[in-house]
Amino acid sequence: MSHPDTTPARFTLDPAFAVGIVNPRLYGSFVEHMGRCVYTGIYEPGHPAADADGLRQDVLDLVRELGVTTVRYPGGNFVSGYRWEDSVGPREERPTRLDLAWKSTETNEFGLSEFMDFCAKSGMEPMMAVNLGTRGVEDAVRLLEYCNHSGGTELSDRRADHGDKEPYGIRMWCLGNEMDGPWQTGHKTPEEYGRLAAETARAMRQVDPGLELVACGSSSSAMPTFASWESTVLQAAYDLVDHVSLHAYYEEIDGDRDSFLASAVDMEHFIESVVATCDHVRARLKTDKRINLSFDEWNVWYQKRPNPHHVEDWQQAPRLLEDVYTVTDAVVFGSLLIALLRHADRVTAASLAQLVNVIAPIMTEPGGPAWRQTTFYPFAQASAYGRGRVLRVEVDSPTYTTARFGEVPLLHATAVMDDETGDVTVFAVNRGQSDALPLRIDLRGVDGHTLAEHLVLADSDPEAINTADRPDRVTPHTATGTTLSDGVLHAELEPLSWNVIRLTHGQN
Ligand code: AHR
Repeated sequence: MSHPDTTPARFTLDPAFAVGIVNPRLYGSFVEHMGRCVYTGIYEPGHPAADADGLRQDVLDLVRELGVTTVRYPGGNFVSGYRWEDSVGPREERPTRLDLAWKSTETNEFGLSEFMDFCAKSGMEPMMAVNLGTRGVEDAVRLLEYCNHSGGTELSDRRADHGDKEPYGIRMWCLGNEMDGPWQTGHKTPEEYGRLAAETARAMRQVDPGLELVACGSSSSAMPTFASWESTVLQAAYDLVDHVSLHAYYEEIDGDRDSFLASAVDMEHFIESVVATCDHVRARLKTDKRINLSFDEWNVWYQKRPNPHHVEDWQQAPRLLEDVYTVTDAVVFGSLLIALLRHADRVTAASLAQLVNVIAPIMTEPGGPAWRQTTFYPFAQASAYGRGRVLRVEVDSPTYTTARFGEVPLLHATAVMDDETGDVTVFAVNRGQSDALPLRIDLRGVDGHTLAEHLVLADSDPEAINTADRPDRVTPHTATGTTLSDGVLHAELEPLSWNVIRLTHGQN
């Protein structure tokens, strides 16, 4: 139940109090070989919008509009059975294999070179994962040599023979995926994984000391081994890795929308717990080095819902995880983005899982259109305006009661200042389902700003969705009544809404 209170939520912005600088990698995403993310998602030769390489231009346009900076590939659970050499070279010679993770068939028609082409055309940085499920140190080093070595060795020359003379120069590498999960092919204990991650990292650094390496953290904070997993793995690999990963997915359970709307409470707690664990190991090891966080899978995902599509085992590109997102989901999604930004000092990379069709902001139909889900908008707006310095926001807000998290503030907010222009953007969510929330922001040390716009994603129908037939049913609209005078901003946040309030500095 939301609170019928009309007490304003409020906070003060002062550039002297900052959290940290947003790493552009916070706006990363994830392409896994699963479902229709790749096939009939980003890649569909013969589609009217496909280019000569089979990449859908309509999807590429949306990916650029979304503002994605990095893309994790090729999994996910898929990577734990990945044989990279199957996915390179002449297409007609690539083998078709069983994908054990998703009980699907992988044709390898789209492989490493096609992925790099996709990254180049969309302007995204690749973030590659190595298989530490069925494979190990040697294979990781061979893949690295194939990708990044300039030439003159068997594998780098093989890449050139395959048409890619220039090395790919991939900087960021994930050391496996969710190795704590019993569902993972080649699942390991923390001791086994810590040792393997350290040895793999050591060998990869022998090839290139400048790589940025991500060790697997827990698959979720609910895992029985959570925190002890991170501690054991980091104890073994601390000096050899740069990031530890976090994964979290949220959904509305048993109609408890109030708790669902407060999902970011859990996400922030998760982040703070992993930071504490990393810093505990740092203290134990008596080192100055700091491990940062790669939140490389996050989203709303209705895991408990049955798949509405009929899927047979070993189908190619089956319809898996094609969740359709409502306005409510987009508000929670925006709140998760706010949680990431509020911890931008330590969360220096993140990947929205996933990019197209599979729990994704972009949907496609084979041979048909591509469109934006509701969740597309908060991501695109955060990526466009959430660059620069995150200002510390201490919210004083009316609260509401949730079954899962107790008393929770109705307002969830953050603010980002562009250091070049001085522009400030506030991102704010009203978690209340029935009442507008008055908001007052005191701007201290933020002079000479004018209100550029206040955009809102909200709807009289919180279940409203976008579909192929009505792709623009849900889009952001402009709020009325927001004012800025004498250094004080007043706004009314619609019930269950995601808000972007842009303040521009000077004449720009
Ligand atoms: O994103 C879908 C799946 O969720 C990924 O393959 C896996 O890593 C996670 O469990």
